[in-house]
Amino acid sequence: MKIRKAILTGGGRATRLQPITTTINKHLLPLANKPMIFHAIEKAVNAGVTEIFINTNPGETELQKMIGDGGHWGIRITFFEQTGGPQGIAHVVNEAAKFIGSEPFMFYLSDNVLLGDLTPLFDEFHSGKYDCMLALSSVPDPERFGVPVFDETGILTDVIEKPSSPPNNFAVTGIYLYGPDVFFDAFANIQKSPRGEYEISSVHSLFLKQGRKVGYKEITGWWKDTGKVDDLLIANRLLLEKTDKSYFTYPSELAHGAAISGDVHIGRGSQIQENVSIMGPVIIGENVLLKNCVVGPHVTIGSGSEIVDARIDDSIILDNSSIYADIHITHSIIGKNVRVTKKKQEGGRSMIIGDKTSVEL
Ligand code: G1P
Repeated sequence: MKIRKAILTGGGRATRLQPITTTINKHLLPLANKPMIFHAIEKAVNAGVTEIFINTNPGETELQKMIGDGGHWGIRITFFEQTGGPQGIAHVVNEAAKFIGSEPFMFYLSDNVLLGDLTPLFDEFHSGKYDCMLALSSVPDPERFGVPVFDETGILTDVIEKPSSPPNNFAVTGIYLYGPDVFFDAFANIQKSPRGEYEISSVHSLFLKQGRKVGYKEITGWWKDTGKVDDLLIANRLLLEKTDKSYFTYPSELAHGAAISGDVHIGRGSQIQENVSIMGPVIIGENVLLKNCVVGPHVTIGSGSEIVDARIDDSIILDNSSIYADIHITHSIIGKNVRVTKKKQEGGRSMIIGDKTSVEL
């Protein structure tokens, strides 16, 4: 039986992305101007998935509003609350047991961004009749991840979570395929780790001890776990570079002194006024105002935002924010409804900076 169901994550604490994630679910942060989780949904749909189950934190409503019922992608999407809130990836999967029944399925950690597609992983899982298939990626810092252990003949023998001395440079990513029933049998036999989570690596390690057929495949192209601000900006850059060229459209008539080069998308109702220079790749949402500014490369600007007098590169700006100041903003994430204005008088700067904000002056 082919995989047609997938569990995607929509919950979690996302403390490393605060303060942005105090008011927006991490999975809705835009990458190349599309909510992060939309990229994950598209990967699943392209691999043949027709039903997706997404876990949410208790009380979540925004995710459901933004994603809808899946009709946008021609599939069915169901949300489920994780009982007791975040308790690890294996717990999320187990909470979805009633939706999965006795079918094979994929689990996909929605903050994992990849460029390639999942079809080769699915094909190998199906043709090799595996109990479990893990997507691996070569990384410079495997100690941050689940790491596979191989014997001297290259056979996978174990998976260890965040080892202090990793035996190799592979990370087990957040993308796993499972055969019918195997996961739920194993979950009943694992305990919470010292960080208080039901670790997915404990399930995979148990599979190997039980003699299950666990395969692995390296993700080629590019993979990133976007848990930190730097990773988000890298993912935004890469996804902008890989966005289909046909998406980049902008009006041919530009105001005096406005110039556009490279791949640039300008949304409906946006005004590019005088003395604006945009260097792609850049995606500008709808009803954005740009005047006397330099934007790009690698910038996404959410709908309703306004940039006047500033220079911005390598940054993600969310909706309805305005920057009216002669400053150079780089390597930044700016949330919704933020105001950056000129000093009103000589002397100090007046600021209202919320909790856990970071500003470089
Ligand atoms: C989780 C998993 C880890 C995996 C990583 C991939 O880590 O526990 O095995 O390598 O996702 O993104 P966490 O994000 O919980 O630190």
